[in-house]
Amino acid sequence: MQFRAVKGMNDILPDAVGRWHRLEAAFRRVVESYGFGELRTPVVEPTELFVRSIGEVTDVVQKEMYSFEHHKDRLTLRPELTASAVRAYVQHKVNSKEPVSRWYYIAPMYRAERPQRGRYRQFYQAGCELYGDAGPASDAEMIDMLVSLYTELGIPDLKVCIHSLGGPGSRAKYREALLEYLRPRKDELTELSQERMEKNPLRILDSKSEKDQAVVENAPRILDCLEEEDLAHWDELKRHLDALGMQYEVDPKLVRGLDYYTRTLFEIKSDAGNLGAQNTLVGGGRYDGLVKRLGGADVPAIGFAMGLERILLAMPETDDTPSPPCFFAPLGEAAISAALVHAKQLRLAGVRTEVDSRGNSLKSMLRRANGLGVRHCVVIGESELEEGRAQLKDLAKSETVEVKLSALVARLQSLMTSEDEA
Ligand code: HAM
Repeated sequence: MQFRAVKGMNDILPDAVGRWHRLEAAFRRVVESYGFGELRTPVVEPTELFVRSIGEVTDVVQKEMYSFEHHKDRLTLRPELTASAVRAYVQHKVNSKEPVSRWYYIAPMYRAERPQRGRYRQFYQAGCELYGDAGPASDAEMIDMLVSLYTELGIPDLKVCIHSLGGPGSRAKYREALLEYLRPRKDELTELSQERMEKNPLRILDSKSEKDQAVVENAPRILDCLEEEDLAHWDELKRHLDALGMQYEVDPKLVRGLDYYTRTLFEIKSDAGNLGAQNTLVGGGRYDGLVKRLGGADVPAIGFAMGLERILLAMPETDDTPSPPCFFAPLGEAAISAALVHAKQLRLAGVRTEVDSRGNSLKSMLRRANGLGVRHCVVIGESELEEGRAQLKDLAKSETVEVKLSALVARLQSLMTSEDEA
């Protein structure tokens, strides 16, 4: 019997992982240069944590969570990490230790969505969460950081969309205006939106159904309902973005699918990589009320998360295969043992090295070395070993020289360095 990976969950084999490493290294370097430090949290959290943070009447909670019971606990594979980060922030009383915290993560998430290009059931997110700064300068800095990262990665056609949801006062005002507009049009909405209308009318704004979209086309705008302080925050955000020279669009339809957001919302899209409807590379926003709602102090927060698979699809093709290793082809047990010792020294000197210890013929070992694209191959036979020597083959030039085993590491190291410099 053969097994396959679960639908919508992918293997990443070593020959494809080079691009992942490059992306993850760039992400870490950029966000660490802005002062973010790495957070790691469990894959599994109490189900209630996500229900309370993301919101009961959302697609993620109603349709997409992998939840199960274990003994008497209701648990869920995390569909995102913002809720877990806030849980950790509150649990470890971080706000009593430092006024501002900047955290980042790179981790797999789980959502039972319909799989397609750029949308999976296990997918990787890289994200940042910032606590203790009410913005809007930090909001602008975060968006600018993302544009710098994507520009460095060579992703073309970036489109930055921003919007504001306002705080609780503006939200209540908007809710009333929206309901007043929707109630007489209820019959024109999909069944799901009709159900959601009184509980969470905002979710109707980001419904994917064309039927709902036709109804909300002329709905009142959130920006028109912002209270004075929210409006000042919004205007200042735009001023900071202008000062940073950022090109952006105000998208009055941007509401994002999670309930914890307040004020600033943003997404960055790109049409590179044929992502179609899945072209949102990153989404984020402010969630000033969540720390308090989850039992912590009244600490403002903002964050984002990007789907790494989507970024990789949008990144230009480059050759990320690592340079071929040094290769040992030992003949016989004693030579294999000597190869292990010398290869270890070479690795300690920083040279990537493989030993072919299968006990095969020289011909088959050289065939494998050629397959790996190896340039330098060390052949150690029984008689050479007795004399403390080895053959050093340059497979690119088809040249062979004899070297003393005692000088082998230094010789290979200098050959590899001069090639790196060439
Ligand atoms: P989100 O919009 O649900 O936000 O997801 C953020 C990003 O994760 C999306 O823009 C997309 O790139 C990627 N993504 C989401 N679902 C999938 C999927 N099924 N397959 C592949 N990629 C996917 C959040 O998760 C928030 N926690 C972001 C945040 C952090 N807001 C504040 N802090």
